[in-house]
Amino acid sequence: MKNLPHQRKKFSLPAQSVYLNCAYMSPLLKSVEKAGIQGLLSKRNPSFLSSGDFFTGADELRSEFAQLINAKNKNQIAIIPSASYGLANAAKNIKLKRGENLIVAAEQFPSNVYPWMNLSKESGASIKTIHPPSFLEDRGKIWNEKILDSIDSATRLVALGHVHWADGTKFDLMKIRKRTREVGALLVIDGTQSVGALPFDVRTIQPDALICGGYKWLLGPYAIGLAYYGNYFDQGIPIEENWINRKNSEDFSGLVTYEANYQPGALRYDVGERSNFILVPMMTAALKQINQWTPGRIQEYCQKISARPITRLREAGYWIEREEQRGHHLFGIRLPQQKSIREVRAKLKENKIAVSVRGEALRVSPYLYNSEKDLMKLVETLIF
Ligand SMILES: Cc1ncc(COP(=O)(O)O)c(C=O)c1O
Repeated sequence: MKNLPHQRKKFSLPAQSVYLNCAYMSPLLKSVEKAGIQGLLSKRNPSFLSSGDFFTGADELRSEFAQLINAKNKNQIAIIPSASYGLANAAKNIKLKRGENLIVAAEQFPSNVYPWMNLSKESGASIKTIHPPSFLEDRGKIWNEKILDSIDSATRLVALGHVHWADGTKFDLMKIRKRTREVGALLVIDGTQSVGALPFDVRTIQPDALICGGYKWLLGPYAIGLAYYGNYFDQGIPIEENWINRKNSEDFSGLVTYEANYQPGALRYDVGERSNFILVPMMTAALKQINQWTPGRIQEYCQKISARPITRLREAGYWIEREEQRGHHLFGIRLPQQKSIREVRAKLKENKIAVSVRGEALRVSPYLYNSEKDLMKLVETLIF
């Protein structure tokens, strides 16, 4: 497939803005904006809304997400309002015992930590938090090795991201999956900071669950996301009991013939009112665009526009993880000793460059609306 060109025209960002912060929130695609406005206006006159419409939009969205992550069946996909919601559904269906353990990475995003803290408290199982080394040499490689070494015969769950949300360190999910299988542990992935911009194939990695908030790399609106649940969760209990998630809910005249069974697969984990006639068409429009672009090409684009700026920063004493150990769409920049984060922050503000500050590092997250020029502006601002 051909390399992707710059896609700024598909967004409405102001001409001068240097927005390098998709990991915080993606800007809106024009096509997504249009779908949202149409959805909003459709409620002016509900007489055109059929009972079938409660299902068709959601199904189309499931199909687009299934295509994105190469899931076999769209019924493995649930529509969720947030990553924490999808992870709560996973946590509700995992039973642990005293003497067992679960593993997370240090400083993981809280939505992928709090459910496990609760589970640990309720069950007496311990949480092993795996820290990166304290030095920068081979940081990502050593962190991955430490995670693999920490998985033992008492491990029942590993809960990670594909990349670390704060600095883009990539976790080797193939190796981690292999090791979890050896000990019979589940693998739950928070894909919020990667899926959409970094290829993720559920048939290759085979996670037990993959949970994604939609407003970052999936280019969706706020308050909708998508989750994949593998076979382990097929017979589980959802965190809420919603009428539309029960079998035969398509028959609106029979809703009070209360039904003991759920809809198939992961549909039981859908959030209430998941037919959302504004958010669902927006999310679908976004995924259609991403499926056309493909995450592989998005990753390549980000690599291409960031390569020279990163070389310049390294020459000026900044530290950035090696390519193979991080995302190209999300990476951390650590400052040289003589520079203070406060000073750097002020310079960025003065030059109207949007990145995030996470601890003592900058988190830079470019996308297709950026060009090498944007990143060079960041470089010029940092070299003072
Ligand atoms: C890795 C990761 N997961 C999840 C979220 C958002 O979580 P939630 O959808 O529960 O608000 C973020 C937001 O920054 C994130 O970085």
